Amino acid sequence: MTGVSLQLQPNPEGLAQAASDFISEQVRTKPDLSILVATGHTPMPTYAELARRVEAGEVDFSRVTAVQLDEYLGIDDDDPRSLWGWMRRSFVQPLGITRTVRLKNPHQFEAAIRNLGGLDLAILGLGPNGHLGFNEPPSAMDAPTRTLELTPASLESNRAYWGELTVPAGAITAGMNLILAARQTLLLVSGVRKRGILHATLEGPETPEVPASFLRRTALTVIADGAAWT
Ligand code: F6R
Repeated sequence: MTGVSLQLQPNPEGLAQAASDFISEQVRTKPDLSILVATGHTPMPTYAELARRVEAGEVDFSRVTAVQLDEYLGIDDDDPRSLWGWMRRSFVQPLGITRTVRLKNPHQFEAAIRNLGGLDLAILGLGPNGHLGFNEPPSAMDAPTRTLELTPASLESNRAYWGELTVPAGAITAGMNLILAARQTLLLVSGVRKRGILHATLEGPETPEVPASFLRRTALTVIADGAAWT
């Protein structure tokens, strides 16, 4: 696992502290950091802890650019299921971020990332099927930013977010090409449900069937809680 750092934490609170330390350090080193931002459940305690640190004046995100990782298709801007809305509520607004890149059109999005000079940091969760963003298996290393149909596994895992609402079948995702080109990648993994796929990600073959396995080619930091690894 060349270039891979695995940090184990006893519980989700420890994960949030360690991930906040990592992200804060990156922002202190490069205040105009460009960050690809996962939503989903895993990073939420981390984002809450970062917001606390911003509030306490311990770190300053005002020059950071937050880049959207993925979105559903066919929903209105004010739809409660909008991942743009989720990213704004959980990350952009509480951290005082004013610069954002929204994911709507693949070509414009990739051009915007090029204009930024690439991504400095990708904060990622791990799909139960090994997806990154909505790069569903199989996704090759050079899979571009694109629209796609979600797999049954992702429709099922995303159901946990929206209660009675249905999960949209179509999605758009930042490509594997952009994620794997980020200067640093941070993969956050929590809970026993992710144990099998985390081992496959770090120890199995690098394969499009487990898109996250390609992260081993990047400067990857994995922060996992004990339930997700042992
Ligand atoms: C969310 C996203 C997804 C999630 C993944 C894990 O923006 O891109 O890839 O990171 O499905 O989700 P949780 O953290 O809810 O288990």
